[in-house]
Amino acid sequence: MAVLPVVKFGDPILRKKTEPVTNIQDAVALADDMFDTMYEEAGMGLAANQIGVSLNFMVVDISQVEGEDGRPLIIINAEILETHGQADMEEGCLSIPDIRATITRPAEIVLGYLDEDGEAQEDSFDGLLARVIQHEVDHLNGVFFTDYLTPAKRSLINKRLTEISETGAPSTGIIL
Ligand code: NI
Repeated sequence: MAVLPVVKFGDPILRKKTEPVTNIQDAVALADDMFDTMYEEAGMGLAANQIGVSLNFMVVDISQVEGEDGRPLIIINAEILETHGQADMEEGCLSIPDIRATITRPAEIVLGYLDEDGEAQEDSFDGLLARVIQHEVDHLNGVFFTDYLTPAKRSLINKRLTEISETGAPSTGIIL
């Protein structure tokens, strides 16, 4: 088991669009450590650039959440092909500790990706799983959930984001 440090807001790697994965085995090997890291931090998803690797893959597992089932997923070279509906859900992020906010996103997605065997898949996701995957796809494109906040709400967290950039954590938490 290897728990890796999670890269925090302010590190330029998190603003950079990741490159497509070409070596599936290398990505899957790294995904093992990413699962360890995600479970240690009680997260539901983790993008590769959050552990400092600028490649397009993520790990996701919502089975720890009460009332949800599912299994650990490795999602490689993800592309959102379709979106449907709209839902509000509170989000947080291991790279932006102690800040949570309700964000509006599509309720359902159709995702094209490669699985851990390198096989092309096209699946529909809804509910919490659709939410987590969209959050991680954003990471892989250099986007944070806080980017969706209105200027007024954004002004409430700007100081905290600076603190995270400088020290890794804000002096106080907030839920928007
Ligand atoms: Ni995140």
